[in-house]
Amino acid sequence: MKLTQCTPATIIEPFRIRSVEPIRFTTMEERQKLLSKAGYNPFLLKAGDVLIDLLTDSGTGAMSSAQWAGMIASDESYAGSSSFGRFESAVQDITGFRYVIPTHQGRAAENILFSTIAKPGMTIPNNTHFDTTRAHVENNGAEALDLVIDEGMDPEVIHPFKGNMDPAKLRRAIQERGVAAIPVIMLTTTNNSGGGQPVSMQNVREVSAIAGEYGIPFFIDACRFAENSWFIKTREEGYDDKSPIEIAREMFSYADGCTMSAKKDGMSNIGGFLALNDEKLAEKCRSLTILTEGFPTYGGMAGYDMEAVAIGLYEALDEGYLRYRIRSTAYLGEKLADAGISIVQPPGGHAIYIDAKKMLPHIPPLHYPAWSLTNALYLTGGVRAVEIGSVMFGLQPDGSEKAASMELVRLAIPRRVYTQSHVDYLAEAVIHTYRQREKLKGYRMVSAPAVLRHFSAKLEPIT
Ligand code: F0G
Repeated sequence: MKLTQCTPATIIEPFRIRSVEPIRFTTMEERQKLLSKAGYNPFLLKAGDVLIDLLTDSGTGAMSSAQWAGMIASDESYAGSSSFGRFESAVQDITGFRYVIPTHQGRAAENILFSTIAKPGMTIPNNTHFDTTRAHVENNGAEALDLVIDEGMDPEVIHPFKGNMDPAKLRRAIQERGVAAIPVIMLTTTNNSGGGQPVSMQNVREVSAIAGEYGIPFFIDACRFAENSWFIKTREEGYDDKSPIEIAREMFSYADGCTMSAKKDGMSNIGGFLALNDEKLAEKCRSLTILTEGFPTYGGMAGYDMEAVAIGLYEALDEGYLRYRIRSTAYLGEKLADAGISIVQPPGGHAIYIDAKKMLPHIPPLHYPAWSLTNALYLTGGVRAVEIGSVMFGLQPDGSEKAASMELVRLAIPRRVYTQSHVDYLAEAVIHTYRQREKLKGYRMVSAPAVLRHFSAKLEPIT
């Protein structure tokens, strides 16, 4: 009898761990005091007081030994460093865009792009704007218009590409507002604010064709382009034998440029870029980069940051990594769904989104049900999540408040940081909280800044 190879059902972490960071256990009593001191805003907690930190997958990933090695060998020259050369080549190789402008993170790329092209009275369509994207559009007096397909706004509907933009809604918006009022059409891949849902290649092609028809530039918010490529590979016909990098290259080939936060699929702790083909626009953006970021061959990053990104972009596209990454997120989603918890279905790439509106029908939207659940997760299990609901999106530009369309709690999974037993613990903590859901209370705003209020607002529980 011949031995056969083990083909396990378990998809293991495709790395071993050589450097560890302790996490601190606290009691619920301690956490009660810590949260109250933080104005009931998890953003204002000290990270050391958190056991499992799922606030974001942005900049929180573990870097590889190859990235650290690249960082040691970096070139810190002010202008024309070889680290910039490697960074630029990696971005050009993957995106195909000619001009690469490094920025310290994604929102800096957004600031440069929108300050250059967005004016009052204009409209920027997107599938769903991320909060910083929306803020930069609005900061320049323009309107941020979300045109995701209807399925993308219903947490329960199963659709393979819930991040798609609705082409009919896009056409209507162009006809109503006029071509001259639309300086760019954006697509966010994956669609973070819509549940980390992917965009299909077909949709990228369709949106690109509409943009081309009207002569409007088309840009991709590429933060999670590698995860999006994996979903295309596994869910879209005709892509299963293509590698993630081939899929990414095809996706970018339909666009005129992209903004990128390298803190996500750049596998870096900081960094980003704006990449584009239009020489004149690149020139204008470069001038603004000098003003706000730094010389255009470092743009707010150290040479070693650019090395980390240049290597990280390829690591994010590794098949073994992506298989593990997307599977480990789905694993958490399945555990919660099996326990009866409503989550955005199907599970997204970088995070699981709990439907707090469904879980907490006794808390009205403007008493912030998703915020309440987020705080409860910290109190019961030391888990830090983030609200994506009416605290994040409810404040209107005129200062009034309007309930957000969804009340979600995002459990964002840092890249290569937590193991399967961390995820098992996490699922237990969430399910434990779910079983006591009737006890959760709403919150009221005590103080808040005028923009991006969720980062620093202070709240209190309604008793
Ligand atoms: N676009 C998307 C889709 C994002 O998710 C983010 C950041 C940005 C742009 C801005 O990038 O943070 O580097 O300035 N998202 C993080 C998050 C903050 O937690 O989802 P940045």
